[in-house]
Formats: sequence, structure tokens, C-alpha cells
Amino acid sequence: MELVLLGPPGSGKGTQAKVLAERFRVPHISTGDIFRKNLREGTELGEMARRYMDEGQLVPDDVTEAMVTDRLAQQDAIAGFILDGFPRNLAQGEHFQPMLREAGRRLTAVIHLVVGRSVLITRLTGRRVCPKCGASYHVEFNPPQVAGHCDVCSTELVQRPDDSLETVTKRLEVYDNETAPLVAFYEAQGLLMEFDGELPVDALADAIVSRVSAHG
Ligand code: AP5
Ligand code: MG
Ligand code: ZN
Repeated sequence: MELVLLGPPGSGKGTQAKVLAERFRVPHISTGDIFRKNLREGTELGEMARRYMDEGQLVPDDVTEAMVTDRLAQQDAIAGFILDGFPRNLAQGEHFQPMLREAGRRLTAVIHLVVGRSVLITRLTGRRVCPKCGASYHVEFNPPQVAGHCDVCSTELVQRPDDSLETVTKRLEVYDNETAPLVAFYEAQGLLMEFDGELPVDALADAIVSRVSAHG
């Protein structure tokens, strides 16, 4: 099972990837999460990525591609993967194909999550995350049991620095200009599967699992 989740910021890639990773028993690989982990740990990669992420811009392709190549070569990704946030522009998409081919692998499908602009903005500005364990919530759509605290580890929740309205607007613009062309790119390869990303989380996950499974 080698899946790519494609969709704008706030379309639910991380939320769905978590469910799909459990159902298909393959790792959830999020380039954004890897950058944020490096940031927390104060690595050189994290410091470099921060400058781009805080501006809502993409981290340079060579850095991101090297990071993904490394991650996909790890033992747990041999049986498959759910990629969330990569590829993110045509250059990364074009680099990804020979990279998979050389490793003797091919994509099962590309899951495209379609969500309206105003819903994206409401989702992102209302998102709260746990700085310790990475769990993600929404003040309205998925509130924690105790307001402001993580259900898993009780840590105080925070807002992602790039979830301010200003940076969200920038990220959506970068999506339109750089990431959206991948929809046609994968459609032309017969890999694209489109889903209504405004469905409730569980209903959407069921729809994805049944369509991907039927596809073989
Ligand atoms: P990244 O971390 O990938 O962020 P993103 O693409 O902007 O997407 P998000 O994580 O914000 O949204 P999501 O689709 O995962 O939605 P979520 O499930 O959380 O990238 C961050 C930055 O890293 C980039 O800007 C860039 O700088 C850098 N980067 C990453 N990858 C890169 C690459 N390949 N190349 C270069 N740079 C890269 O859901 C959002 C909210 O909605 C949550 O609160 C959730 O609870 C709620 N929600 C989700 N689903 C539903 C639903 N069905 N119904 C109701 N609410 C829902
Ligand atoms: Mg995410
Ligand atoms: Zn937590």
C-alpha cells in the first residue's frame, strides 16, 4: 500500500493519514511533522526549515527530497507508506517517480481531498496541537475532553505558528500556485482518486479504505 495524500492545508491529510496508517498497517510519513520534530530538537535541518515554514513557503526541494529518500528506506516503510505533504510541487513529483522506480516500487493511488476555502480557513485557525505528543484537535470540530489540554498526555495545547490567519492565507496561495498542478499530473497517470474532504472524519476514512481496497 503506497499512498500519497494530496490536498490543501487544512484538508485533513494528517487526520486521515493517521486513520489510514492504522487500517493498512503502514507508517504515516508527514514531511511537515518531520520538519517540526527537527525544529523541536533544535537540529540544523529544523533551523533551516523554520525560516520557510514560518513564512508559509516551501522548504527547498533538494533538502526535502533527501529527507524523504532516507525515510522511505527505513525498515518500517518497506511494506508501504502513507505520504502526507510530499510531493508538494511538480519538481518533487517528477523527482519522486525515478526514486520509487529505482527502489522497485510504485504508487497505489493518490488521494485528493477536496475542501472549500472558507472551511479550510476555519479548520486551520481553530486547530490546536499538543507540543509534546503531536496530537491534533479543533476548538469546535474536535475539542479535547478538558479544554486546552491534550487527551493523551494532558500537556497544554498550542497553536501552530503557521496557523495565524496571515500565514494561512500565504500557505493557501502557495498551494494554488505550486501544489495544485500535481492534481492534473497524477490524473494523467491514472492514479488520482478524488474525495469530498468535508465529510466527517470516519465516513471519509471508510470511503477511502473501500475505494483503495477495491482498486487492489
Ligand atoms: P504541513 O505540516 O504538511 O502542513 P499543510 O500541508 O499546510 O497541512 P496541514 O498540516 O496544515 O493540514 P492537514 O491537511 O494535515 O489537516 P489536518 O488533518 O491537520 O506543512 C507545513 C510546512 O512544512 C509547509 O508550509 C512547508 O513550509 C513545509 N513542508 C512540508 N512538506 C513540504 C514539502 N514536501 N516540500 C517543501 N516544504 C514542505 O486538519 C486540520 C484541522 O481540521 C484540524 O484541526 C482537524 O481536527 C480538522 N479536521 C480534519 N478533518 C476534518 C473533518 N473531516 N471534519 C472536520 N474537521 C476536520
Ligand atoms: Mg498536516
Ligand atoms: Zn499530547
